[in-house]
Amino acid sequence: MTAPAHHRATAVEQFRRDGFANAGAVLPPEAVARLKEGAVRLIAAFTDEGLRADDYWNFPVEGDERPVLYRVHNLEKQDWSPERELLHREELAELAAAFVGGPVVPTAYALVLKEPYRAAEVPWHRDRVNVGPHTVCNLSICLDDAGPQNGCLEAVPGSHLLPDDAEVPEVRASGPVVAVPAREGDVVVHDVRLVHGSGQNTNGAWRRTIVIEYADPAAPPAP
Ligand code: NI
Repeated sequence: MTAPAHHRATAVEQFRRDGFANAGAVLPPEAVARLKEGAVRLIAAFTDEGLRADDYWNFPVEGDERPVLYRVHNLEKQDWSPERELLHREELAELAAAFVGGPVVPTAYALVLKEPYRAAEVPWHRDRVNVGPHTVCNLSICLDDAGPQNGCLEAVPGSHLLPDDAEVPEVRASGPVVAVPAREGDVVVHDVRLVHGSGQNTNGAWRRTIVIEYADPAAPPAP
């Protein structure tokens, strides 16, 4: 079941106040399952078939010949039809438009993954600050259940409203730091100005998400 309308209104309210929200299930379960199958194939091309390409972002591990894949960039350009077409489902753009409060255009697509045990933490950061609050958001379609043990999103509520020059380590230290757990199929949204990060994957459960950035068409591009 997809999330009811009152849940949507609550999520929008939370997004405006905190800079993030879990909007619940937005796509039908079969669409999520197909996206997950496509993601698994893309990952296997790297891990099992030896594909190496600029869009497959990875880092080496000392003493281990297998590099750790953490992102497939330009997801809309990868060879994974027909599942790839699901990136353009209108439910996703409609959700983003509700958060931004007006029309949106997709500006980036990626598969972000945390391999069990081997994934690194994501250092705390803000994605962008050259845009106003509530004008550019990231939608994360969760392909697995996620919690702090496998590196779900963590953030400081309200930090998207801080000035552009706020110091990320200080904002994190003052907190509060909140984990944003999700179930498979949930869509988690965050403002690109949000101060956020995520931990390692220590419980052996994959964490894979498809991230789509949507922007107010008037917003300047990423620097
Ligand atoms: Ni980020």
